[in-house]
Amino acid sequence: MIRVSKEGILALEKLDRTKLVNSLSGYKSAVLIGTQNQAGANNLAIFSSVVHIGANPPLMGIVQRPASVERHTYENIKASGVFTINHVPIAFYEAAHQTSARYPREISEFEACGFTPVFSETISAPYVAESPLRIGLKLEEEIEIKSNQTILLIGSIQELFVAHQLAENENHIDLSSLNTLLVQGLDTYYKVEKMATLPYAKFAK
Ligand SMILES: Cc1cc2nc3c(=O)[nH]c(=O)nc-3n(C[C@H](O)[C@H](O)[C@H](O)COP(=O)(O)O)c2cc1C
Repeated sequence: MIRVSKEGILALEKLDRTKLVNSLSGYKSAVLIGTQNQAGANNLAIFSSVVHIGANPPLMGIVQRPASVERHTYENIKASGVFTINHVPIAFYEAAHQTSARYPREISEFEACGFTPVFSETISAPYVAESPLRIGLKLEEEIEIKSNQTILLIGSIQELFVAHQLAENENHIDLSSLNTLLVQGLDTYYKVEKMATLPYAKFAK
């Protein structure tokens, strides 16, 4: 094994360090966060830091980079109190990646990158029509991470939309059958292959 020290990591060029450290937490779903500003302009941005917070109440979180520069997703979530999380079909990986570019506030990444906004009756943030699994959330809590000023935004799930009818006991939405995108770090995308579903592990063996 090759040891890389903390000093070695800190000595890297900014972009190299960002890429290396970002790759360490592994594969994650690459999702598109849909928001709308007060003027009615839609915004879309790729995020990978989606975390499950809890099931009752149903909560999910996203980690937002520090608000030291213009952050449209963050501004819109704060102002509107809602956002959508949209899983991305693998065919759209390049378009999804492109949403990370810094577009001016008045330009919608939906149009610029080739996605279609759709709305529900309950959430004023746009969903992505191309997405086979869409989740609508209401902002509940904002927690600043003191170590680096990133922000954990916690939302409560108001509704979700799935591309197929859920079977009676289907309590697990199989993303591999929906063919959605994974990412490691900030630039390397993957497809999923399902391995197994195991029974609940009850007793020590
Ligand atoms: C693969 C990938 C994953 C990303 N994940 C996050 C993330 O979890 N949190 C974040 O704040 N930015 C993330 N970004 C960066 C945002 O997409 C980028 O800052 C974007 O410009 C934000 O747009 P906005 O200003 O419209 O919110 C990611 C970028 C890429 C390419």
